[in-house]
Amino acid sequence: MQTVQDAAALRATIRGWRIQGQTVGFVPTMGNLHEGHHSLIKLARARADRVVASVFVNPTQFGPGEDFERYPRTLAQDQAGLAEMDCDLLFAPDVATIYPLGAGQSVSVRVPGITDTLEGAHRPGHFDGVATVVCKLFNLVQPDVAVFGQKDFQQLKVIERMVRDLALPLMVVGAPTLRAADGLALSSRNQYLSEAERTLAPQIHQTLLKMRELLEKGHARKVIEQVATSTLERGGFQPDYAVIRRAEDLAEPADDEREGLVALIAARLGGTRLIDNLAFD
Ligand code: PAJ
Repeated sequence: MQTVQDAAALRATIRGWRIQGQTVGFVPTMGNLHEGHHSLIKLARARADRVVASVFVNPTQFGPGEDFERYPRTLAQDQAGLAEMDCDLLFAPDVATIYPLGAGQSVSVRVPGITDTLEGAHRPGHFDGVATVVCKLFNLVQPDVAVFGQKDFQQLKVIERMVRDLALPLMVVGAPTLRAADGLALSSRNQYLSEAERTLAPQIHQTLLKMRELLEKGHARKVIEQVATSTLERGGFQPDYAVIRRAEDLAEPADDEREGLVALIAARLGGTRLIDNLAFD
């Protein structure tokens, strides 16, 4: 597997594939790769002739006081894992390659509506940073298919929306969430957890399962959300939200709506903020 840092080298390799009529699958990441990321590579492999991954810890999607500085950077390990997954090319740019003008860049991609709620409400500006960097990465790689995890459900919806609204010429594929045996969704941020916190963390998934069970039993959505929030609080979490939304646009469903719903949780455990979700169908 080849690793490139600059845009010209990236374009040259991809141009070579294009000339041969090969299609390109793309998996953008921030590195510190785990099996969840690897499953995305596998999916991209199945959908395209060539697979490109990127590792870029994108400063513009971190808010002040968030974990940009301490976000785990493990490039050598990531390279080894990607090579094993049969990834063809790793794009690992530095900040100046992606943002040559720094704060002087004037264009930013905003996806209003879907970003006004949940993660967007709790992390102001986060999705502007995500949409902007993903749009740039799409322009650099020009993939036919791009794979995103359902683990970051709202992010996947934001990207789908951006691609549709801007008529970007690629297909977005959502990949199922990979979990540890005890249900905790794999995440680079799990390693911030202390041993004691790690034993508590699977309660997020358990709460999502409970929310589904209560909904199937016909309980009111608002009641389920209150039960989930207080369950998490009793379990040692500080929940930002534990809600049931319409999967399509993350809007609040009508009281009698039962189809196409998703439960989403964001909660702090000590200094670590964890997110997870469960689609109901
Ligand atoms: P990162 O958190 O590294 O995640 C990269 C991709 O891996 C995302 O699409 C995410 O949803 C997916 N992923 C993470 N954990 C997963 C799991 N347990 N199972 C399946 N997929 C999982 O998300 C980002 O990076 C960034 O915001 C990015 C899109 C790269 C833009 O900077």
